[in-house]
Amino acid sequence: MTDSYLGFANSSLGSRIVSALGLPQPMTLERYRADQPVVRGSVLLGGAGSPQLLHALAACFKSMASQTVAHRSLPQWTQIANEAGLMSGRWGVEDQPGQKVKALVFDATGMQSSEEADALYHFFHETARSVLPCGRVVVLGRPPEACTAPRQATIQRALEGLTRALAKELKRAITVQLVYVTEGAEDQLESTLRFLLSPRCAYVSAQVVRIGVPSIPLQPALDWAKPLSGQKILVTGASRGIGSAIAEVMARDGAQVICLDVPQAQAALDEIAARLGAKALALDIGSAEAPQALVQAALADGGWDVVVHNAGITRDKTIANMKPHLWQAVVNVNLSTQERINDALVTSGALKAGGRIVCVSSISGIAGNLGQTNYALSKAGVIGMVQSMAPHLARKGITINAVAPGFIETQMTAAIPFAIREAGRRMNSMGQGGEPVDVAEAIAWFACPASGGLTGNVVRVCGQSLIGA
Ligand SMILES: NC(=O)c1ccc[n+]([C@@H]2O[C@H](COP(=O)([O-])OP(=O)(O)OC[C@H]3O[C@@H](n4cnc5c(N)ncnc54)[C@H](O)[C@@H]3O)[C@@H](O)[C@H]2O)c1
Repeated sequence: MTDSYLGFANSSLGSRIVSALGLPQPMTLERYRADQPVVRGSVLLGGAGSPQLLHALAACFKSMASQTVAHRSLPQWTQIANEAGLMSGRWGVEDQPGQKVKALVFDATGMQSSEEADALYHFFHETARSVLPCGRVVVLGRPPEACTAPRQATIQRALEGLTRALAKELKRAITVQLVYVTEGAEDQLESTLRFLLSPRCAYVSAQVVRIGVPSIPLQPALDWAKPLSGQKILVTGASRGIGSAIAEVMARDGAQVICLDVPQAQAALDEIAARLGAKALALDIGSAEAPQALVQAALADGGWDVVVHNAGITRDKTIANMKPHLWQAVVNVNLSTQERINDALVTSGALKAGGRIVCVSSISGIAGNLGQTNYALSKAGVIGMVQSMAPHLARKGITINAVAPGFIETQMTAAIPFAIREAGRRMNSMGQGGEPVDVAEAIAWFACPASGGLTGNVVRVCGQSLIGA
């Protein structure tokens, strides 16, 4: 559905009126285009203590063909960058800020105690106004739970508050994330940086991502123009809404997609499958025979690499008014079915070793929502499933992660009454709803063969919604 206020606020007359009346001024978000570089401008690097990721960062920026500049907190960057074959210079002279940049990256992995927090102040104080609209900020740390010294764990945990507050302050559609990189997982950074620094994460902000050491070593170099090349990917609920956007992004990135939806959606399913050169699979995933039917379909395909559990339903009523079949239908389709399908695909080997499972939760599962006890239970359950299954699946090198969308412009949200819809759209740091493609891009990042270090993560695609924050 079109957000007419967004269009108005970005027209020449509209922007003057909106500004004069002091109304919110959401920006048109930059989104992925195949002909553009990963970062549309320079990346400014800073750090504190003895930053531990500089060589890994240099390798990533070289691969991404990014232009970097060094803040005075990181004088060693120029030499490291040059050794990696990157051109890089100093940012700013004396107390004067340097050029405008598209991204800030701060390596905080070397921070040992809150006594060093001033380094964060100086870097962000000096650079905050130099980030271009739709810019990206990434802070890199070590997982607090893996730090042996309490003071180190404390300052590493403190980074979360800083990044969430920065995400609220920087405005102009700038996103800010915190990435905790486990020691030994330095070579796993690239797929995450490519996502978080690019327009692909237009509607993802204030998130904390954990990168660990994968149980299967990193695959050989990818063609980053088609990172899902050769991957066979099942997308459930693919005939419309977020599901069709997921199928499109997967196909765009080179995957062979299997589009699944209920038999009643056959016509729309056939249409999207034909458009994407994908397979269509009409199946009610809530039926008792669905897990075995999927195992057969996957084995006939030679196994699947990725399963995306997108299909979901709502049957809203307050619990006092809810009939049991409404409760059961939602819990079954949104949660129990996915558990049964995962078990069947994993134990049969129909989901290949080293495969990926990506689930769709919801901020309703994080914050709860009136009239949605069934839905919130199911979507919180998806988070529980991701976190509890991750260590079990790691034995087969399979990762499992979830995205939790906020307000996304689909048929589902178009049906919400006007006033509630407007509140849902504006109550986030982007001042607008997300597009289905924003959810799809996050799923493609988790699905990527180079994302083996990501498992057990839940990332909100909600523009830093105030709900459940
Ligand atoms: N739209 C949002 O703002 C939003 C927010 C948070 C989470 N989500 C979640 O994102 C996912 C997609 O949402 P959407 O807005 O695109 O919904 P949608 O209703 O437009 O699409 C859901 C698709 O799933 C299919 N489906 C439902 N039950 C099925 C079954 N038993 N077997 C096979 N297919 C089935 C439907 O036919 C439909 O094509 C859902 O899991 C939803 O809960 C959406």
